Amino acid sequence: MCGIVGYIGHREAYPIIIKGLQRLEYRGYDSAGIALYDGNAIKLSKTKGKVSDLKNKIENEISTDGTLGIGHTRWATHGVPNDVNSHPHYSNSGDLVIIHNGIIENYDSLKKELIKRGYTFHSDTDTEVLVNLIEEVQKNDNLKLGKAVQVALNQVVGAYAIAVFDKNKPNEIVVAKLGSPLAIGIGDDEFFIASDASPFIEYTKNAIYLEDEEMAIIRRGKKIKVRKIKNDVLVDPYVQELQLNLEQIEKGGYDHFMLKEIYEQPSAILDTFRGRLLSNEGMIKLAGVEDNMKKFLAADRIIIVACGTSWHAGLVAEYIFEDLARIPVEVEYASEFRYRNPVITEKDIVIAISQSGETADTLAAIKLAKSKGAFVFGVCNVVGSTIARETDAGAYTHAGPEIGVASTKAFTTQITVLTLMALRLARAKGTMSSSEFRHHLIELETIPGKVEEALKSDAYVKTVAEIYKDSKNCLYLGRGFNFPVALEGALKLKEISYIHAEGYPAAEMKHGPIALIDEHMPVIVIATKMGHYDKVVSNIQEIKARKGKIIGIVTKGDTSVKELADHVIEVPETLECLTPLLTTIPLQLLSYHIAVMLEKNVDQPRNLAKSVTVE
Ligand code: M6R
Repeated sequence: MCGIVGYIGHREAYPIIIKGLQRLEYRGYDSAGIALYDGNAIKLSKTKGKVSDLKNKIENEISTDGTLGIGHTRWATHGVPNDVNSHPHYSNSGDLVIIHNGIIENYDSLKKELIKRGYTFHSDTDTEVLVNLIEEVQKNDNLKLGKAVQVALNQVVGAYAIAVFDKNKPNEIVVAKLGSPLAIGIGDDEFFIASDASPFIEYTKNAIYLEDEEMAIIRRGKKIKVRKIKNDVLVDPYVQELQLNLEQIEKGGYDHFMLKEIYEQPSAILDTFRGRLLSNEGMIKLAGVEDNMKKFLAADRIIIVACGTSWHAGLVAEYIFEDLARIPVEVEYASEFRYRNPVITEKDIVIAISQSGETADTLAAIKLAKSKGAFVFGVCNVVGSTIARETDAGAYTHAGPEIGVASTKAFTTQITVLTLMALRLARAKGTMSSSEFRHHLIELETIPGKVEEALKSDAYVKTVAEIYKDSKNCLYLGRGFNFPVALEGALKLKEISYIHAEGYPAAEMKHGPIALIDEHMPVIVIATKMGHYDKVVSNIQEIKARKGKIIGIVTKGDTSVKELADHVIEVPETLECLTPLLTTIPLQLLSYHIAVMLEKNVDQPRNLAKSVTVE
């Protein structure tokens, strides 16, 4: 939920850290801070607000000299966002300084114990407890910093990615990880520390991703030492070559990352297909599925676990798997699944969907499913993420970095992977004839081009946004494959424009939400030609009879909805099961434009963070 950055080497640390924090701001952005060692002392500055506020403050407050430093951008867990609760945190002596992403669950009992021993606390954070615990261990047992961190962490329950240094030993930074990500970039006589590789991508392509329960002592000019926190065993870390490039993490001329990511969907879906959708050969190749085909074919059912937008992709997949492959599917909120003693057996397959691969609830649901013997398959975007590593097998979405907090290309590429899976299993199970299968492959291959076409509605969607931007409420309706798209459309509007929105299956409207409809209520209805078109048209009649404002998302060339609706936005025609990949596009654009018109922070909506690594 927070972003951490650190540097030790021969360059000035400040510009690297401040730029790195800006790149990690998607992880949390309610406060930020930095601590630099200038050769004599620690210079620390922190503030409530964004990294840009920190930058302004620092330039008037401290000198920015120094070749060692750490920085933090926060999403508050313990203690409100304010200057004092911002990271970094000093220990009582002022010798140690720490940044932390995660939660120390037993911080209260540790804090009481430390208070008894004379420690005082200035903030409400669990992190200040941790740095003082490290100091207490260090002083009591006369230990070096690395050893003290290790002993302290063995007393801690919770999750963390930390970086800590001691002003008396200014040539080393100690880092450790459990449950929150931590990457170490390895340059020439210099090291970079960050929650992901984006802060150091222009300096090095070599990185170590620490595993859970590992720590590293990073010394200037020395080889990194990685150890297991529990038993002190030295680990030979795997140095990975990064595929990420600078272009992928910059806005590339767009006003916002969200808009860039909406427009990247045609190429992102193509990347998801690459090497997998072989329509000429009439084949789908997904290594994770091929290698485990026996398990998939023997499965009694598939349980999908996910949160937020990924859960919506799971709902779309439920329709697709059941329709094409005739496999029973249940879709669960990971946060509910993990705590309700679900019935899971070895004959179940659990599919965990997560863009970030770090969502705490999804991770816990995976662990639970595995403990009950289920085979767990991951659909993740971030390569090497915790969920990607924790699952038995998986398929990456290959959408590229998604930086806007509101998921867009992650959603459509998740649906793409899940559709490929459903088709592959349908073929293997014989629930689809070979001609039907081929037809689906050929149509799927046209989707990137059709998304491109759907994006052409942008200017018109903007005019619709102008009309409805001041609405207080909004209803989204869809049926069948497009019911989850209605939920996703409503979530997009809520999270970036703060307008209350509800998604509903169109036919459920008459069981309650219809009471909300009057001349002030915009109702976005997904009414593509296939499926339950006539039924949805009847629902539109019902809205019109109550004076609701109707925005129809229709198939190109539609006439019936056009006669009834106040506005129609067309998408190209495709197979019914593929329509979510197209109907989603105008809904993303609509929420984007409304949020921009309302002057909201589109990429960093209030109270949210990109990866939710806490419960
Ligand atoms: O990284 P994940 O896919 O596991 O994240 C799940 C949700 O937190 C995420 O989809 C969230 O709902 C987005 N803000 C939606 O736009």
